[in-house]
Amino acid sequence: MKIIKNSLEGIKVAAEILKDNGVVAFPTETVYGLGANACSKEAVTKVYTIKKRPSFNPLIIHVSSYEMAKEYGVFNDLAKKLTQKYWPGPLTIVVEKKKSDIVEAATASLETIALRCPSNIIALDLIRELNKPIAAPSANISGRLTCTNPEDVSGKLKSRIDALVDGGKSELGLESTVVDCSVETPCILRLGNITVEEINSSLGYKIVPNFQTESRVKSPGQLLKHYSPDAELYLNQNQPSAGDIFLSFGPHPKAIDGLTLSESRNLEEAAKNLFTFLHTLDRLSKARGGVPIKVASIPSNGVGAAINDRLQRAAEK
Ligand code: TXA
Ligand code: MG
Repeated sequence: MKIIKNSLEGIKVAAEILKDNGVVAFPTETVYGLGANACSKEAVTKVYTIKKRPSFNPLIIHVSSYEMAKEYGVFNDLAKKLTQKYWPGPLTIVVEKKKSDIVEAATASLETIALRCPSNIIALDLIRELNKPIAAPSANISGRLTCTNPEDVSGKLKSRIDALVDGGKSELGLESTVVDCSVETPCILRLGNITVEEINSSLGYKIVPNFQTESRVKSPGQLLKHYSPDAELYLNQNQPSAGDIFLSFGPHPKAIDGLTLSESRNLEEAAKNLFTFLHTLDRLSKARGGVPIKVASIPSNGVGAAINDRLQRAAEK
């Protein structure tokens, strides 16, 4: 795996690898993505193989502008409003798919397509340089912990991918909010930094979460068990004992191994740290023979709802 520094030259090198049907991990403002040219069957197939992702689980198609997105999806009133407000940014919309040169495998042959215009400048430059949309799931093995820094991507994927563009730690730390605009009653398929309250108050729409479970395959990525570390996770643990590994919220208790998601109980900071700290504590657990990780309770207001969503799936056995 080639490590590419963030520079004009670096973006060109990464885009060349994508043009040659390679797979490149790259930063977005949410989490790292595992990118392929969405119009190359060979490249998209590689992404599914590298991630060990079932072929029925579609990828998000990343575009560099609204104009580019319109070539691939049908924008109804809601999709227009949402993207005007939140693009570029951590919002993915599911809309009716247009016929295009995006390969069927990228959208799992569905009649809908998930589109996102990221705000991260490296991601945008890479799409522009490729001059094609980038199909990119999160850069991790399917069902396992998401990666929000280049070290974790490299640790988990270096033997499987062609290159990694180093963009430092992800700014937000949680995957994008996914809104399904393709159905009569629009719904939120995945929580993220843009909260349900924010969407509903800014748009005057009443969009409700509708999370999918294994029995419903509308958004097949949203399985109950997801984001799994190797270690067992126990949630809502506020009284750690000596010898525990503890992921706290607020000041970290003295003499207990672990980390705090946010000393000052700031939920945005907690979101940004969540996956990086879970990777770190997972390694610590391994080094200590599989000691489980205890996690403090996190308030569910604001982005706390998305943090709890990830933690619950990560703790699922
Ligand atoms: O922040 C993000 O969204 C990151 C970065 C790299 O952009 N990407 C990401 O991709 O989280 P992934 O593949 O880990 O999650 C995409 C989710 C999955 O749950 C998938 O099932 C769902 O989006 N999805 C994709 N296309 C869909 C569609 N047509 N209808 C419903 N759900 C869809
Ligand atoms: Mg993912």
